[in-house]
Amino acid sequence: MNDDARRAQTRERLRERARATLAAAHRTGVSPWEGRHYDYHCPSPRSYPFQWFWDSCFHAIALTRIDVDLAKAELRSLVQGARPDGFMPHIIFWRPDRAVMDNQTLRLSTPYLSASIQPPVIALAIERVYRASGDDAFLAATLPAAAAFFRWLRDSRDPDGDGLIAVVQPDESGVDASPKYDPLLGYPRDNDDLVRAINGIYARYAPLGNDDRRIIAADVFVVEDVLVNSIYAQGLQSLARLTADPAEAEEYRAWARRVLDALIAKCYDPARGLFLDLLGAEERRTEVNTISALFPLIVEGLDPAIAERLVVEHLRNPDEYALPYPVPSVAADAPGFNPDHPHGFIWRGPTWVNSNWFLARALHDRGYGDDARRIGDATRALVEMSGFRECYNPYTGEGQNAGDFGWTTLVVDLPD
Ligand code: GLC
Repeated sequence: MNDDARRAQTRERLRERARATLAAAHRTGVSPWEGRHYDYHCPSPRSYPFQWFWDSCFHAIALTRIDVDLAKAELRSLVQGARPDGFMPHIIFWRPDRAVMDNQTLRLSTPYLSASIQPPVIALAIERVYRASGDDAFLAATLPAAAAFFRWLRDSRDPDGDGLIAVVQPDESGVDASPKYDPLLGYPRDNDDLVRAINGIYARYAPLGNDDRRIIAADVFVVEDVLVNSIYAQGLQSLARLTADPAEAEEYRAWARRVLDALIAKCYDPARGLFLDLLGAEERRTEVNTISALFPLIVEGLDPAIAERLVVEHLRNPDEYALPYPVPSVAADAPGFNPDHPHGFIWRGPTWVNSNWFLARALHDRGYGDDARRIGDATRALVEMSGFRECYNPYTGEGQNAGDFGWTTLVVDLPD
């Protein structure tokens, strides 16, 4: 059998396993509050039973390869969490379960919605589901919420008006325990330390209500995160393609350009050839080389010379990201790198399928086909070998943390 035939067979096998993984995580019903119909997939039946924001977007994208009706339902459920002012919560607790909720570090805006955000993958997810379904009613039902969320992000999370939005606690970036945040968290040594630090942040926020501008002004934990802002710019580019109004499309394109220009002007370090997050109101660049450093690759229009350095000097560098099972969440030579996943102290080294999916697709689209294929093949090998786990050891491929993990089904949407 040649390579192509073998890849096609692997792909089909993984698709069937992805279908089963998602089927076990499918949740439908009517919420005990406001009697709303929900239909979504939880990130992991045992560890994460609620509807998480960016997980749901990834589930919808994977479902375009499996059952597009389920993909539509997933996002229709997700937009029901949107507040009238545009905010979208990072978790919807369709069936609140105190025992599980007490185990998370949470800030709530209502008993059923969190008060935090996650990276705005929603515009891209809507675009993918719309392209797969051609369903105008789906687009009309979901696009206004996504557009309003992006406006909310701009109006509430960019008080210095530099084009970059801020996260106000580590969970908001989706890469919770990344060592890039350590200086703002007192250098936690383990997950218990981290939880204490996050609860300390929440205690400082409590008297401020859920007023995002006051929270940012307090400058307790303010990070202009490269990964979050890359997804923000990419989402604006999706909105530009989705809107039927040419003037609005132009507005989104210019807005995305402004975000990309700000990433380059403020986060790009030409000496090291990578992007670094900005910590605190004084915008101190983190020194830690994490996967965020590579994320501007996903934004259309990134200068090819900058992209080339990210790929050649970092992604292909065996001291940093080119480990046996790439792409680790932190460069192997960076302070804080830990390829294991000790007790939930996550995003400090293991390889994740959602970041591999972003990077492989971006590399493929930019003409780095061999690099995209290397990541794709390694990711397929990881899932075949260790199952649909939350993340993996980048040296051994051993599966870590939650099992039957939803967004790992993105493996079915990787480029060949
Ligand atoms: C972990 C991840 C976060 C994800 C959540 C649910 O907290 O770090 O990104 O959304 O689990 O899967």
